[in-house]
Amino acid sequence: MNSVLTLKDSDLITAGQTRQVYQHPEYENLCVKVLFPKKSKKAQRRECRYYRSLQRRNADFSMVAQMREVVNTNRGQGVVFDLIKDFDGNVSRTLRHYLLKNEEPLTQLVIETIEAVKKYLYHNGIVFCDLNTSNILLQRVDEQTYRGMLVDGLAHKDFIPLCNYSVSFSRRKITRAWNRKVKSWNKKYPSLKDKISLFETE
Ligand SMILES: Nc1ncnc2c1ncn2[C@@H]1O[C@H](COP(=O)(O)OP(=O)(O)OP(=O)(O)O)[C@@H](O)[C@H]1O
Ligand SMILES: [Mg+2]
Repeated sequence: MNSVLTLKDSDLITAGQTRQVYQHPEYENLCVKVLFPKKSKKAQRRECRYYRSLQRRNADFSMVAQMREVVNTNRGQGVVFDLIKDFDGNVSRTLRHYLLKNEEPLTQLVIETIEAVKKYLYHNGIVFCDLNTSNILLQRVDEQTYRGMLVDGLAHKDFIPLCNYSVSFSRRKITRAWNRKVKSWNKKYPSLKDKISLFETE
């Protein structure tokens, strides 16, 4: 019989639109994501499938919080991920958090992080369907070093999953989706306007 992980209110770290994120009760460097009641399981299933395909092709996870396992919890099925923390032990904050402060040098740091995410995704052929600024953390590795860490939004909705096998197919998808995303960020965040590079398209 599979054991059931007990999550308490006091383990809750934060929540998104669809999931609650809990500190794993047994491992301090892991978190458990549980869907809010009545939320569709579709996106989470899609995410798990895509992460497994990345794991199978031995993809570079240096800028993605790794998915570890699916577990049963007292609050429903949970997915266990690495919990991304800063060097001081605090859970890393999102790009959105830093952008809303609207102050330098933070905004410049966010811009550099987004450019690094662009290179990383393209180089590794990792596709996204929901790349918003709450799904990317700015991890403070030490006093001087920062890096972007993707914690949500990686997956695709394709029935024929060519992205799981072909980096060049994925890159074409990334190029189009990235340029659309940057245009939406330009509108949403005045401080990012025209600061993030687009991919050249043929
Ligand atoms: N692995 C992680 N390490 C640290 N913090 C995390 C991690 N995963 C998520 N978070 C935090 O929890 C928030 C919500 O998580 P997540 O984005 O996975 O939930 P969601 O409900 O699927 O999001 P959305 O609202 O984008 O659908 C994130 O914005 C981030 O602040
Ligand atoms: Mg999210």
